[in-house]
Parts: sequence; structure tokens; C-alpha cells
Amino acid sequence: MSQEKLEKNTTVGTKENLNSLDRFPYFKGMKELSPIIDSIPQYSIRNFVVTAFAKYVPPEFWILPASMSGKFHPDMDKGLGGLVRHTKADCLVALDLFPLYPGFDEYHQSLILAALLLHDICKPDILHPIQVAKQLWPLRGYDFYPTIINLIESHMGQWDQKGKLPRPKTNIQKFVHLCDYIASRNDISLKLY
Ligand SMILES: [Fe+2]
Ligand SMILES: [Fe+2]
Repeated sequence: MSQEKLEKNTTVGTKENLNSLDRFPYFKGMKELSPIIDSIPQYSIRNFVVTAFAKYVPPEFWILPASMSGKFHPDMDKGLGGLVRHTKADCLVALDLFPLYPGFDEYHQSLILAALLLHDICKPDILHPIQVAKQLWPLRGYDFYPTIINLIESHMGQWDQKGKLPRPKTNIQKFVHLCDYIASRNDISLKLY
């Protein structure tokens, strides 16, 4: 198949007209996140996440560092692809903590992993938690969509941008915030690979 035909027949990421070089960060990032996505216990939630990453996650997600200022994240989250590494770190913290929370069944764990995988897709905007609902609006038909959106919207906890962001209230909302908080500490070091 010619390169031109290959381009036309390959629809990954959010821009179908990207050339193969532009798609490299997407493939590299998905290689990092795929094992986490595969570990989501519930099929329908896993399917939601796969569709989100294939179609609705902005291309910048695969390239940006986790912190624009460089102040609030560990060194591993800086530089090209830092946001993907941060996302993976959040999920690894969650997987590590799940045994301490036996009340979270497979459904809760699936919701939490989905929220953590998608919580920062609208960075670098400071109100990124509440922009995800619009970004993933085409997926609103899933019955758990509002729950995942609520988990994402409150992930910043006390850093609520002067009341513009909701704070976590339920146990799983607090857990999502906790995982993001731990993985974002600038003195933490996680083995990602
Ligand atoms: Fe965030
Ligand atoms: Fe985050």
C-alpha cells in the first residue's frame, strides 16, 4: 500500500490527516498507557477509555510536560511526553493502593483508572478538570460518563482555583485526588518502566 493510501486508511489520534511523523508521540504514549488500559477490569469502561484515546484526546496530550512552570511535579514529569508519564504514575499509585481499599470493587477500580487516565487531557489550561466534559461529550451515552467526569472535575482537591473547580466529596473522588497528589509531589520518585 502506498504511503498516501496508508495515511488515508489509518485513523488514530484526533487528527486523521496527521503525517506518520506527527503520530509518533501518540504511538509512543499509547505504548506506555496500554498496559494500564488493559488492566481496567470492566470491559465497557475499558472500551470507553480506548475510544477516548483513539478519537477525543487532544494531540498536545502526548507531547506536553506535566507542569508548565516545572514547580509542582517530579523531574520525570518534565520535558517531552511528561504528561503521559505523570498519567501513568497516577495509575501506578492507584494500583498500588487498591489492596488497602477493599471496599473498592472492580467497578470502582475501573472508574478510578479511567478517571486517572483521562484527568489531565485538557492541560495546560488551569481549569482543565472542567474542560474534559466538553472534550469527551461524544461519549456521554455511556451510563458511567457522569461519574467519571465528576471524578475528573474534582481531581485537584484543595487547589480549586478559587472555587472554580469542585472539591472531592465521595470516597472514590477523594481517592482519585490522593493518587494525583502523591504522583505529583516534586520529591517523589516512581519506577515507571
Ligand atoms: Fe490536573
Ligand atoms: Fe494530574
